[in-house]
Amino acid sequence: MIEVRNGNFFHLKNNKISYVFHVMENNHLGHLYYGKTLGELSDSDIQYLTERNNKSAGTVKFSTDDDLFTLTDRFQEYPVYGSSDFKEGAIEVSHNNDPWYLDFKFIDYRIEKKKERNLAVPSTYALEGESETLIIQLEDEEHKLNLEMQFTLFEDFGAVVRSQKLINIGPESVMIEKMLSGVLELPTANYDFLHLSGAWLKERHPKKRKLAQGTVSVGSLKGASGHQHNPFVALVEENAKINKGEVYAANIIYSGNFLAQAEVDEWDKTRLMIGINPSQFSWQLQPSKSFVTPEAILMYSDEGLNGISSQFAGFTEKHIINREWKKTPRPIVFNNWEATYFDFDQDKLLELAKLGKELGMECFVVDDGWFGKRNNDRSSLGDWYYDKNKFTKGIGTFADSIHQMGLQLGIWFEPEMVSPESQLYKDHPEWVVRHSYSRVSIGRGQYVLDFSNPKVVDEIYGQMKEVILETNLEYIKWDMNRNITEAYSTYLQANGVPQTEFFHRYILGVYALYEKILSDFPDILIEGCAGGGGRYDLGILFYSPQIWPSDDSDAIERLTIQTGTLLGYPLSTFSNHVSASPNHQVERVTSLQTRQNVSIFGPLGYELDLTKLSDEEKEEIKTCISFYKKHRNLLVHGEFFQLLDPFVDTNEVSWGVANEDKSEFIIGFYRKMAVANPPALDYIKVPFLTDDKIYSVNKSEEVSGKVLSHFGLRKPYQFNGANHHQAQVKGDFQSYIYHLVESDKNGGK
Ligand code: GLA
Repeated sequence: MIEVRNGNFFHLKNNKISYVFHVMENNHLGHLYYGKTLGELSDSDIQYLTERNNKSAGTVKFSTDDDLFTLTDRFQEYPVYGSSDFKEGAIEVSHNNDPWYLDFKFIDYRIEKKKERNLAVPSTYALEGESETLIIQLEDEEHKLNLEMQFTLFEDFGAVVRSQKLINIGPESVMIEKMLSGVLELPTANYDFLHLSGAWLKERHPKKRKLAQGTVSVGSLKGASGHQHNPFVALVEENAKINKGEVYAANIIYSGNFLAQAEVDEWDKTRLMIGINPSQFSWQLQPSKSFVTPEAILMYSDEGLNGISSQFAGFTEKHIINREWKKTPRPIVFNNWEATYFDFDQDKLLELAKLGKELGMECFVVDDGWFGKRNNDRSSLGDWYYDKNKFTKGIGTFADSIHQMGLQLGIWFEPEMVSPESQLYKDHPEWVVRHSYSRVSIGRGQYVLDFSNPKVVDEIYGQMKEVILETNLEYIKWDMNRNITEAYSTYLQANGVPQTEFFHRYILGVYALYEKILSDFPDILIEGCAGGGGRYDLGILFYSPQIWPSDDSDAIERLTIQTGTLLGYPLSTFSNHVSASPNHQVERVTSLQTRQNVSIFGPLGYELDLTKLSDEEKEEIKTCISFYKKHRNLLVHGEFFQLLDPFVDTNEVSWGVANEDKSEFIIGFYRKMAVANPPALDYIKVPFLTDDKIYSVNKSEEVSGKVLSHFGLRKPYQFNGANHHQAQVKGDFQSYIYHLVESDKNGGK
């Protein structure tokens, strides 16, 4: 996988990609190529790849030794601003407020074959033989800094995972002002910058804009990756189609403040960079200490948006999420939030649990309101002991009753928060993130706990552990409902640590709590959540195999959220609940059929008052759950793809999942608004079929792969006022599910 020539030319290659770089004339690392695999390279190929015609005119040269060599027209692996390159660099260090112009020169390299999963830091992992890691050592002799750049290549994926470690080998401490995780330089600007952006209730809508000379960026300074922007970004070749065209994507395994940006220079070269947001960050590096960046994942596919999404999904499920979760079926959840909000007690919950069990649900999740004196969102966060008025027989007895019904139990926590009205706050007001100013910002009536302080993490873990033990808990919903303002820690101040380290130390504290829980209770399924989808990132997914994607549970809004999210994340991570109609966030009225047809893609759940269901609705739910159970593996872990380009037609959405050998597909078709007088013939081309094979469509028609892929799958007939007998869908918010099975796999015709 990793080939080194002459000790200075590095070719990372597998069956999908090649990533090539070398040591340049000035001993820095120069990037040469990332794209479709190049296979074996001859000496003359290497000569050809490394040959460069320096652009001399108008540039400043790197040194007096060579009157042509300038960094500004070279592709670099880890660029530094200000030594003949004027674009933004990836690393900045200062000393006593003097900026240092770093000069990292190649020293040596080594290759490691192991990449173990370590709960302390979210990062990629691989079993023996699945990956190789190249570690390049560089040194800036004058500034007494060492840099180790890490590149990991994995079997069968178009990914290159990068991280950097800076080591202070000098006698004095220095300040890291900026240290990004991943850089990718590309020779053209013929791309659209694709990002997933939105807000609370409308997270991760796919957006794109054309690159042009200048910089475009997304990021967060909220202490979380955030509702507004997501760290997944991609450069999509202009005119790419959903199944064709080059796409370079990037993401980081991190849940805090991030920055992802693309800068296009005067020669239309593009520099894509991603990492910890340098704004509100600097890190004091003491002598002999090191700082390691989170890992960045670069991903390449020449198979368009579906190619990049399937690469990222497969990669995340295999090398980031604990892969045990691929073997354990995800339970169908009942969550009481939208059914009861804060108004419940043990009897009401048990009634819902009984009904849920009868309908086929498998895990009962008690949401917010079970602890302290929490009857609204203004109190008790931080007091994680059950409310004796709601659980008069104790939460342990309640848990036993749930387990006796044959259901798993889940409980909601918001570990990072504290209410001003709580015992914890009374005992430890100094544990809150706030400045000594008299004014303090407040969100949802709560403060953020100072997770940079290990004592705080220990206290919260102690409380959670008691509840987990008492209830034999199988599932945690981990919420986080407000962002950080006036970031300041009295703990860091007392320990002489600069406040500019707070945001990073905070998120490391969050990871430390995850580590504690999962070290003691490795089988607990943690569902991530942050006021809906405010922390949908790879850092959280390292610990939580699924995330509550949005507080907007409306099926039609979810079409866009899910379409965007799944461009960069696996289907198995997207918790999908059927909620009430009219929907509680937008008051939209949709059919139960459409709500279920949307929610079956991904880990399914229900979040509505089951006592209000009619008998017909109960039957509809039972039918859907039994279909889901039969095809759960396909609907959760199948290869997900879009059949319609999300940027072309926004009224229609179509998703598909395919099994590994592409002999079985479930396809969902959704039309938001009814179309007056629709075209008589309307078809969608299905990818991945084999021309000469025959597929049964909903067990009623037998059609060849060539017809379905070149002519297309017939869209459901829409009611048009005259076709009463034929119409398959009508009104707004239509949905239709197709099940395609290769005929010989289906026992013949
Ligand atoms: C957040 C979550 C919801 C629910 C509430 C409870 O908004 O996203 O799903 O858990 O908190 O307060």
